[in-house]
Amino acid sequence: IIMKLYYVLLLLAFPLSAQINVVPQPNDVHYYKGSCKVDTPITYVKDPAIANPEGYQLVIQPRKITVKYSAEAGKYYATQTLRQLIFQAKKEHKESLPCLVITDAPRFAYRALMVDPARHYWKIEDLKKYIDVMSQYKFNYLHLHLNDDQGWRIEIKKYPKLTEIGAKRTNFEGSKRNNEGFYTQEEMKDLVRYALERNVQLIPEFDVPGHNDAAVAAYPFLSCNDTIIGVRTTAGVSKNLLCVSKKEVFTFIDDIISELSEVFPCKYFHIGGDEAPLDKWLENPQVQQLKKELQITNNQQLMSEFFKRVNESLAKNGKQPLIWMELEVPTYPQNSVMYLWRMHTTPQVLERAKKDNFKVICSPGEYAYFDYPQAKDDLPNVGWMPTLTLQQVYKFNPAFSLTSQEEKQYILGVEATLWGESVKDLFRAFYMTYPRALALSEVGWTQMQQRSWKSFTDRLEGQLSYLLHQGVNYRPPVELAN
Ligand code: ACM
Repeated sequence: IIMKLYYVLLLLAFPLSAQINVVPQPNDVHYYKGSCKVDTPITYVKDPAIANPEGYQLVIQPRKITVKYSAEAGKYYATQTLRQLIFQAKKEHKESLPCLVITDAPRFAYRALMVDPARHYWKIEDLKKYIDVMSQYKFNYLHLHLNDDQGWRIEIKKYPKLTEIGAKRTNFEGSKRNNEGFYTQEEMKDLVRYALERNVQLIPEFDVPGHNDAAVAAYPFLSCNDTIIGVRTTAGVSKNLLCVSKKEVFTFIDDIISELSEVFPCKYFHIGGDEAPLDKWLENPQVQQLKKELQITNNQQLMSEFFKRVNESLAKNGKQPLIWMELEVPTYPQNSVMYLWRMHTTPQVLERAKKDNFKVICSPGEYAYFDYPQAKDDLPNVGWMPTLTLQQVYKFNPAFSLTSQEEKQYILGVEATLWGESVKDLFRAFYMTYPRALALSEVGWTQMQQRSWKSFTDRLEGQLSYLLHQGVNYRPPVELAN
């Protein structure tokens, strides 16, 4: 017994200095004496005591590797952690792993990236590759920005012109690349399945009422003045909103939400809401009439009314709205999840969240706009954009000044947005995404007390090798070289 006790104490008291190289950093790691061959078979044990479906326990003993999980998500994430451990061991020409117990679960339930095939079309194969990589870093949602002024990218059976007309454009800011293409519903269903196998849920975004030149080009009746336009060929904000006073507009929206709800099983449905200047609504006599009927005193109440109607379609299809919040809009549907996205608005958005009791997805420009360059003068033609460095992303704490209770109540999670105006292909997309997404994965997964910039940068080189090994390019963080 004394020998046994001695052995247990020895194991417990042996804090190995070696740090494992895993991103995101697991939330609890205990090291023990000894090692285990890298090719040891893995035993999977379903354990309902693991409360979080994305949580897992990985136990590496001298001749045994055990994964405990309660749901497929946790099993998948344990496997990702283990794959990284094995890769890093082999990279250092080691044939063994340290004995340890990792007990892990995410800080936030929602950890997303967004891509924008509306501005530059992505092939399905490229979306698959993007999902492969993000899922290794425990991101669990991919938000697809499927329509914008510059393109409509998803087949809608009731409105074939959306893709016949809306999915083609003559050029974009002079460039002839990736101006045409769309996803059939069958292709998208296949992508949904592919993503789910990697614990990634696809969230469709149908951005309304702004950002709809491509739809208006296909169906001019959608605008207040039946405007005849083409698919937009420049960046910027359009005034051709879907018209708030037309019954046919809400029928159109309802039809699209119904079709897309069949394709995307995710309970969240992004309905846009950003950058919608009211000019054309307010010039229109029918909209003036509507204002009278609704006794509207603040013009932005029209936007509240618009989203109230849209939400009826979402509710009918069992969907919960995600919305790019605009502070001037007085009310949003009760069950909406609001995005914190505009720079310099964090205090106001959090105040609103508390006042109106809604949950927030944090993707503030200060930390999460991945279309912004990672260093000054890094890229041509984006000189107007702020710079978003790797270290700045790493500094992000989505709780801001909230208490831990408030954090639980109001913060659903984090998302990085990769807007597509200057992202012409997958090569550029990976360049913009990595290594910043490694930092963001830790922001979403790892508790603050387990996070440190020093530890992150110590692990970075190994993770860049992991990406290279898979043929994934990234922006080399040259500013960190010493
Ligand atoms: C946005 O950046 N327009 C949400």
